Formats: sequence, structure tokens, C-alpha cells
Amino acid sequence: MIPSDDSALPVTGRLAGQRAVITGAARGIGAEIARTYAREGAQVFVLDIDIGLATQVARSIGGHAAKVDLADATSTSTALEQAIATLGGIDILVNNAGILKMAPLLDLTIENWDTTFAVNTRAMFVTTQVAGRAMVAQGSGSIINMASMGGKLGSPNQAHYAASKAAVISLTRVAAMELGAHNIRVNCICPGYVLTEMGTATRTPEMVEAWTAKSPLARLATTTDVANMALFLASAEADYCTGQAMNVSGGMVMH
Ligand SMILES: NC(=O)c1ccc[n+]([C@@H]2O[C@H](COP(=O)([O-])OP(=O)(O)OC[C@H]3O[C@@H](n4cnc5c(N)ncnc54)[C@H](O)[C@@H]3O)[C@@H](O)[C@H]2O)c1
Repeated sequence: MIPSDDSALPVTGRLAGQRAVITGAARGIGAEIARTYAREGAQVFVLDIDIGLATQVARSIGGHAAKVDLADATSTSTALEQAIATLGGIDILVNNAGILKMAPLLDLTIENWDTTFAVNTRAMFVTTQVAGRAMVAQGSGSIINMASMGGKLGSPNQAHYAASKAAVISLTRVAAMELGAHNIRVNCICPGYVLTEMGTATRTPEMVEAWTAKSPLARLATTTDVANMALFLASAEADYCTGQAMNVSGGMVMH
């Protein structure tokens, strides 16, 4: 049975017959997107470095899972090519996986910087090429990239992460410009704070309180809030949206 959420939208089969690959869907936001897409009728392929959890998610939604290390470009392209072959094509790619290892700017190591960019940004470029070629051949597709509020605002101790997410927003815009003629839409999502494993590991209770107070809606984001945006962007309801960086931040960011 597919777990549901009280605040999930009514199920209307918006993704019936669609083939979706989602990275980093073993837990957190990605797993919520996988469940939401499956509920809406999509065939879902989960790619994650944690193959144990990824397999559990895939089993719970009747989908597929495979291991990938997005820090490795060859692992990334090979895993995605195999996922596309298994699904018989790809209609939706969600580049969701991301990492954050906080560090003050003056202590930030080259290794942390490079790994963050490899997973958060370079992998997205690789998957966009692989999926983009398949989508060009079929004449349609939707690519959804996970950026962050941090990509627009920045945040202390997150120079590498914020820069990698700002790059995601730029990559999204250029991909939208180049692929639009092939009926491929490319958008990204900029979530506010979500208390997933990443969210809880990188925020103190004081930060949570301070950020809650900054939202006009006086709460943090849930995984469902973000998954609902990913659903909208994947669906035909967003047919005229491309190149956008959609905030799901409870009004903490308004540009
Ligand atoms: N949680 C937040 O507050 C927040 C806010 C804004 C944006 N985001 C973004 O949302 C996305 C999902 O975040 P989350 O909070 O669900 O994080 P999470 O840490 O809970 O989940 C991340 C997933 O990515 C996978 N992953 C990590 N490194 C990988 C690698 N090298 N190869 C393959 N898979 C890998 C993990 O195994 C995990 O399943 C990320 O891109 C994150 O930057 C999160």
C-alpha cells in the first residue's frame, strides 16, 4: 500500500502512463515525490546511493530501483540509461538528490566544495544530457531540478551549497531555453526548510524557530508541500511553464 498524507491533493490520475525517474528518492523529499507520482499513475524508477532504502520505496509503490553514485559521472549516466531502458523511455526526470555538509566559509575544504558541486550540480548536467537526448527523440518531456531557497538567498555556513543551488537555477534556465523547441520543459523548485534527514541534521532548534517566524504562513515546509509542486510541474497543468524557479517557502522568498 502506498503511504498517504493528510495534506496530499485528491488523486486524479494526472500522471497516468508517464514514466518518471527520480534521483535521491530513497527518503525525504524524493521519496514523497515518488509516492505522489505513483499515486497519480506514473511508473516510477528510484535512483539512489542507498539501494536498501530505495528498494523499499520502489516496492511500496510498485516501481523500480537501482543504485547510483551521483558524485561519479559514469555511474550517473549508466544508471540513468539503464533506468530509461527498463521503463522503455522517460517522460519525467526529477533531479532531486542533494547533499549539504555545513562549514564556515573560511574552513570550507576543496573536497567538500567539489563533492557538493559533483552531486548537487554536475550530476544534474549529466542526467539532463542523457534524459534530454531521449526526450528530444520522442519530442516531449519534463525535467524538474531541486534547487533551494538557499540558491536565491544564501545562508551562513553554506557557501558551497548555496552556490551549487544557484548554479542549478541557471542550468535550469539554459536547459529550458535550449530544449523548449523540442517540447521539453525544464523547471526547478526552491524549497524552504523541510525537516527531513538533511533538514534536521543541518538546523538547530533555534534556527527552526527563527525560520518559522520568517514565514508569513508561520510554519516550515513539509515533504508534501514540495511533492505537490513537483506534481504540478510534471503535469499537463504546467504545460506553459518552463525555466522557472518555483518557491515553496511559505513566503520566506518572494522573488
Ligand atoms: N530539507 C531541506 O530543508 C531542503 C531545503 C531546500 C532544498 N532541499 C533539497 O531537496 C533535495 C532533497 O533533500 P532532502 O531534504 O530530502 O535530503 P535527504 O538527505 O533526506 O535525502 C537525500 C537523498 O539523496 C541521496 N543521495 C545523497 N548523495 C547521493 C549520491 N552521491 N548519489 C545518489 N544519491 C545520493 C540520499 O541517499 C537520500 O536518499 C536536495 O537536493 C536538497 O538540497 C532540501
